[in-house]
Amino acid sequence: MEYSALLAGRRSTRRFDTGRDVPDDVLERVLAAPLAMPHAGNTYDWRGVVLRRRDRDAATWPAVHAALLGQGYVEEAAVLVAFAVQPGWWAERYRANIAALVERGLIDPARHAGLLAMVDAGPGDSDFLTTGLIGEAMMGVAAAMLAALDAGLGATVTACRPADLAAAIGLPPGAVLCPWGVLAIGWPAVDEPVAAGGSQPEVAGDGRPPAAPKPGLDEMYFGRRWGQSLATAIP
Ligand SMILES: Cc1cc2nc3c(=O)[nH]c(=O)nc-3n(C[C@H](O)[C@H](O)[C@H](O)COP(=O)(O)O)c2cc1C
Repeated sequence: MEYSALLAGRRSTRRFDTGRDVPDDVLERVLAAPLAMPHAGNTYDWRGVVLRRRDRDAATWPAVHAALLGQGYVEEAAVLVAFAVQPGWWAERYRANIAALVERGLIDPARHAGLLAMVDAGPGDSDFLTTGLIGEAMMGVAAAMLAALDAGLGATVTACRPADLAAAIGLPPGAVLCPWGVLAIGWPAVDEPVAAGGSQPEVAGDGRPPAAPKPGLDEMYFGRRWGQSLATAIP
């Protein structure tokens, strides 16, 4: 699907068809999409745990579902992917990865002196690092969501109770679950009131709830400095 049409039609899906699985090749495409995104120092520190509806274990699912706030569409989704980051793992590898980028000629020491000085100084404050890595992982969540919609699936980014979900899916010490980084995907239910992937145009009176109004660009962006009108940047 064309990118602008995909964006214009994107809506969250909150009713999935429980009778249809996601084919393996489609799932692989969705899972590969985050790898196309940029990664700080090319370190690829995030990891995802893939939970398929068809493989659900009756003994462990209740804890997973409860950690995902017991939401109905989570129960129905063919696949859930929970994303986590590993700040300690990243920090150990960052310097070596930047050195490799320099060696391959992708980072030029003469033009990137400031970056290399920051790398030498180390990643610093662990909250800062964790927040940054969660942001990086969320770019991957967005890429996976758009790949799912492109394949005609529905997708919803989903919140969780991170500590509970981490325990339920066996995260090791040092791995940090992205608190809003669970992606639920599947085929939208036929009675799903919201179209996925823009496959149905928004038509007044078609029975679907209207999308929430979007803020305008001038509400979301400032120009030049915080508080100044965007018109100072885009007259
Ligand atoms: C980080 C994040 C977490 C979200 N968590 C949930 C969730 O747990 N449950 C839910 O129903 N929707 C969740 N949503 C979906 C938003 O509610 C939805 O994007 C918003 O209402 C706008 O609707 P739309 O996606 O159809 O445009 C989440 C969205 C984001 C970006």
